[in-house]
Amino acid sequence: MDWKALYEQHVTSVMADVEKALNGEPFEGIVFHSGSQHHYHADDREIPFVTVPHFARIVPAGGADHLLVVRPGHKPRLVRNVPRDYWYEPPVQPDHPYPQILDCVEVDGREAATAAAGDVSKLAYVGDDPKFAKALGIAAAAQQPARLLARLDWQRAYKTPYEIECLREAGRRASVGHAAVRAGMQQGWSERKLHAAYLEAVGTMENHAPYTNIIGWDEHAAVLHYQSKDLDDPKGKRCFLIDAGATHLGYASDVTRTYATAKAHPVFVDMLDKMDSLQRQLVAKVKPNQGFVDLHDQAHRGVAAILSETGVSRGSAEQTYEEGLTHPFLPHGLGHHLGIQVHDVGGHQQGFEGGKVTPPDQYPFLRTTRVLESNNVVTIEPGLYFIPMLLQKHREGPKAARIDWDLVDALTPCGGIRIEDNIVVTETGQEDLTRPFIPGHNGGA
Ligand code: GLY
Ligand code: MN
Ligand code: MN
Repeated sequence: MDWKALYEQHVTSVMADVEKALNGEPFEGIVFHSGSQHHYHADDREIPFVTVPHFARIVPAGGADHLLVVRPGHKPRLVRNVPRDYWYEPPVQPDHPYPQILDCVEVDGREAATAAAGDVSKLAYVGDDPKFAKALGIAAAAQQPARLLARLDWQRAYKTPYEIECLREAGRRASVGHAAVRAGMQQGWSERKLHAAYLEAVGTMENHAPYTNIIGWDEHAAVLHYQSKDLDDPKGKRCFLIDAGATHLGYASDVTRTYATAKAHPVFVDMLDKMDSLQRQLVAKVKPNQGFVDLHDQAHRGVAAILSETGVSRGSAEQTYEEGLTHPFLPHGLGHHLGIQVHDVGGHQQGFEGGKVTPPDQYPFLRTTRVLESNNVVTIEPGLYFIPMLLQKHREGPKAARIDWDLVDALTPCGGIRIEDNIVVTETGQEDLTRPFIPGHNGGA
C-alpha cells in the first residue's frame, strides 16, 4: 500500500472540500485546533485526550493544542505543539508521511503556537476552545460558524481512498482481538479476562479504543451498550456477544459477533443463524441511492419474519411487522456512518448547507436518515434481544396474546443477538470491510 500517495491525494481532496465549504463565507481560511487537554473536576488528573474530529481527518498527529492553518491556494501549515515537559511524554507520533506533505513547525506551548500561526484573524476557528480562539485573534462570530461546520460535517460522509484503507485496516486490527476473544470464550473465560485478551491481542490500550468494548455473556448481551466487565466466571455460558473495534490513524472499526454455545436454547441457535442471513441480505442491499430509513424498515420486516418463523410471535411475518411487535425486540437503529468517530457526524443532516431530517416517530434511535451515496461508510447491525424492561409493557398490552411469553421467558437467559459489519458503498453496490477478516458465528465468511 502506497500510504504516502494515498495520503497526498486525501489532503488534496480535503483541501478542495475546505475551499468549497468556504465558498461565500467571510473567512480567508480555517484554523483547525486539535483540541484542549481536559482534567477531571477539581483534580489535576488528565482525562484521556481525544482529538477534535475535523482536525483528525486531516492530520493524525496525537496530542492537544496543535493548529492546522488552512488557506486555499497554500500548503496547509501544521503548528505542532510538543511541550517540554518532564511529567508527561510528548505525544507519540504515528509512522506516517504527513511531515513530508504538510508545512510543519514544532513549538512548545500555546503562546508559541499562537505566534507561529501568524495573523489568523480573518480565518474561522474549528475546535473546542473559545479562549484559545480569542487568543488567536479570531472573533466569536468566526468560531465554529454553523454553516461552515454543517458543510464540513456533510463532506465527512464521503470517504477518500485513504480513509477507506484506514477503515479497512481498523477492521483488520479488530479481527485479531475478535479471534482471541472467540478462543477465550470457548474456554468459558470471564468478561474481564476476555476484555484484557482483546486489548492484548490488538496491542492497544483501553483509552485508544474507538468505544468502550461491549463483552457480555448471556443476559448482558441484552444491555445494548453493556459497559461493565464481570470478574466472575460466567454461570450460564449460553450465549456471548462482543461488540469491539480498533482504530487506525484515527479511523474506527465497529464490529459485533454473537455466539451460541451448546447450552443455548435450540430456538436461539436457530434465531442466530437466521439473524446472520438477515444481516447478509441487508448488507447486499447497500448501494447508491438506497435510503437508510427504508433499509432500517426492511430490517424490521426481517426480524418480524424471524419472530414469526421461530414461534415467538403467533401471527404471520406481515402481522408481526404491521402490529409493531418487532419494536421491543429491535430497539436501536440498523446502523450509522463510520469514520473518525464511531458514530460519525451528519447522519441526520439534510444537505450540504445543513438542515435536519429526523427519523420517523416509530424509529427514534435511527442514527442516519440519509440516502446512501458511493464512498459513504456505514455499519449494518441488526439486532434481536430479550430485554425485560421493554417486553414488560407488551405483556400487559392489547397485543399480548400475539407473543408466546413462555418461549420469550425460555429465551431471555440467552440475552440477544447483534451482528455488525462495516460497509463501504461503491459505485454499483457495496464492499464489506470487516467480514473478510472476522468470520461469522459459524466460522464461515
Ligand atoms: N458499538 C456501538 C455501536 O454499534 O453503535
Ligand atoms: Mn458496535
Ligand atoms: Mn455500530
